[in-house]
Amino acid sequence: MSEELLYAGKAKSVYRSDAPDELVVVFRDDITAFDGGKKDVLSRKGEYNARVSARLFEVLEKAGVPTHFLRLEDPTRMRVRRLAMVPLEVIVRNRAAGSLVRNYPFESGQPLAPPLIVIDYKDDARHDPMVNDEIILALGLLGRAELEEMKGLALRVNGVLRGIFAAADLDLVDFKLEFGRDDEGRLRLGDEVSMDSMRLWSRETGESLDKDVYRLGTGDVLGAYARVAERLGLEM
Ligand code: CDP
Repeated sequence: MSEELLYAGKAKSVYRSDAPDELVVVFRDDITAFDGGKKDVLSRKGEYNARVSARLFEVLEKAGVPTHFLRLEDPTRMRVRRLAMVPLEVIVRNRAAGSLVRNYPFESGQPLAPPLIVIDYKDDARHDPMVNDEIILALGLLGRAELEEMKGLALRVNGVLRGIFAAADLDLVDFKLEFGRDDEGRLRLGDEVSMDSMRLWSRETGESLDKDVYRLGTGDVLGAYARVAERLGLEM
C-alpha cells in the first residue's frame, strides 16, 4: 500500500487517501486491553470488527445519525470522511458493568433507566480520566450547544443499537463512542462501533460476546465475535 500512514492506534491504522477530505481506516487483527498491558493478534478479528462497524454505521446513517462512514473497500479497509476528532470517549450504559461496578456501589447487570452517559477524556497516559460538563467546557473541547448535541446523538445511537441487538437476542449493556467535526464543522460519529467497544450479553445465557471475553480470558474471543456477526446476518 503506497498510502501514507497518518496514525496507528492499538487496533486500527489510519492512512491518507487519494481524496483530501477522506481517509482509509484499516482494522488490524491486534487486540489489547488494560491500556495496552495485554496484547495479542487474533486472525480475522479485524475483519469481524470492520464488517460489524460498517453494518452498524449504515443503519445509524439511515436512522439520521451523521457518521464518518463512506464504504468498506475490502473486508478490513473502511473509507471514511476525515474528521477533527474531539478527544472524548462518550460511554452510554444501559446496565452497570466494568468500571461502574468497580468504582461505585452498583450491582453488576443492574438496569440503568434512563441510560447513563459518562464521558472520559481520551488520554492513555492519564488513563482516560472521567470528566464532567464543566471540565469539557473549561478545556474548550466543545461549546455548550455542541455538548448537548453530542449527548443527544449518543442517546439516539443507543436507541438504534439496542433495537438491532435485541432483535439478534443480544443485550446491549454499554458502549463507547467517539465524535469529531467534519470540514463543515458538523459533529459526526467516528472511530468504530464494534465488539471491541461495547458489552453485549447473550439474552439466553447471559454470557459475554465482546471484548470482555478477552479482558477476562474466559474463552474463545473470535468465536464470540463471529456469533455477533452471524446474529447480525453478516456472512463471513
Ligand atoms: O470496563 P472498562 O474499565 O473497560 O471500562 P468501562 O468504563 O466499564 O467501559 C464501558 C464500555 O466502554 C465498555 O463496553 C468498554 O468496552 C467501552 N470502552 C472502550 O471501548 N474503550 C475505552 N477506552 C473505555 C471503555
